[in-house]
Amino acid sequence: MNILVLGSGGREHTFAWKLAQSDRCKALFVAPGNSGTKEIATNLTIGVTDFEAIKSAVLEHKIDLVVVGPEDPLVQGVHDFFLQDEALKHISVIGPQKAAAELEGSKEFAKEFMVRHNIPTAAYESFTKHNVEEGYKFLETLKPPYVLKADGLAAGKGVLILNDLKEAKAELKSMLVDAKFGDASTKVVIEEFLDGIELSCFVLTDGKDYKILPTAKDYKRIGEGDTGLNTGGMGAVSPVPFATKAFLDKIENQIVIPTVEGLKKDNLPYVGFIFIGLIKVGDAPKVIEYNVRMGDPETEVVLPRLKTDLVDVFEAMANQTLSQINIDIDERAATTIMLVSGGYPEAYEKGKEITGIEKVTDSIAFHAGAKSQDGKVVTSGGRVMAITSYGNTYQDAIKKSYQSIKHLHFDKMNYRKDIGFDL
Ligand code: AMP
Ligand code: GLY
Repeated sequence: MNILVLGSGGREHTFAWKLAQSDRCKALFVAPGNSGTKEIATNLTIGVTDFEAIKSAVLEHKIDLVVVGPEDPLVQGVHDFFLQDEALKHISVIGPQKAAAELEGSKEFAKEFMVRHNIPTAAYESFTKHNVEEGYKFLETLKPPYVLKADGLAAGKGVLILNDLKEAKAELKSMLVDAKFGDASTKVVIEEFLDGIELSCFVLTDGKDYKILPTAKDYKRIGEGDTGLNTGGMGAVSPVPFATKAFLDKIENQIVIPTVEGLKKDNLPYVGFIFIGLIKVGDAPKVIEYNVRMGDPETEVVLPRLKTDLVDVFEAMANQTLSQINIDIDERAATTIMLVSGGYPEAYEKGKEITGIEKVTDSIAFHAGAKSQDGKVVTSGGRVMAITSYGNTYQDAIKKSYQSIKHLHFDKMNYRKDIGFDL
């Protein structure tokens, strides 16, 4: 089978790494890819939302299966684009159609979906600039901290958590009236603050059945002890030690099943990954968000633990035979530590040479914001490389990743030294 992966991050390098291990993968392409994918696949210089260029490449390289990494092309309707095109409609696409991608594309859509299907989540109301006064009143009924969410996609920056009522009102105004996040904050969801520990659950669905992948915990803040600005993710651990069998059963019964059934009831065709962001409040799982793709860096710990051939899994999803597939999981723990450019998530420099990659033998170096240039690997983004290790315990795995990082160097390299600290 000829396969195209869309995206250029650590997530997509991990997809490519796993797909390349399959005897059934004949030719592998990544668009646009990075220095890591270049070693195991053919990179195509095409943007992930350039649908016409994707079409040409798919036809030229006789692609049978397209795996969509990031949310943007899904929310913009790449799957629908394939289904509506005579030359493309027979090609399998892993990722939901536009209508279902709204679960990530619109916070309000996601909240309405959860309420309609009785899925536990924080209480909320949503507002526009036409009823901002009511928004202030709603804030007055809540206890701090106040959670404000831009409705649309805001590159992970659209959620504000504020302790002060006055500040919360000012931010609400800035989002709705002054378009702080552009079109993404035309609507704002205000919700109840949930106090607990976060984890993520990953579900595969073919629209009929589902399979649950291992849980993972991501570390979103830039600073040690979960302080400072939010990032795309600074590290991850799988499985999540506090996710006991009893708790996982609750997630499955109260959240996964109603979600998959809800998609069917609402007539939202879905072939792809559902990434459910959860907070454990006491013993109860509550949904904080849906994403319609895999997480990054969660993919870098979840896929290495999947023993089943990923081509078989994707084929079963596309053919709606997922129920017939066994998902075999490696018992070992996997952890990843993200190396980032100094300054990230604010301004940072690019083009720094990365050295020592060939010395990493006990871990897997998944490239993210890294590209090949004149025979060297240089930084090209904020999150540069995810260093994944296996271990009998997550502590062993974390230790191995930190040992491997000692071999790696680039100017102003930064990473969190405390991944797993709260487990
Ligand atoms: P989201 O983009 O919805 O995942 O929100 C980003 C982050 O904000 C989450 O990872 C949580 O840490 C936090 N967050 C979102 N919603 C809530 C909530 N209702 N209560 C507490 N924290 C939240
Ligand atoms: N690591 C969080 C995300 O992929 O959204």
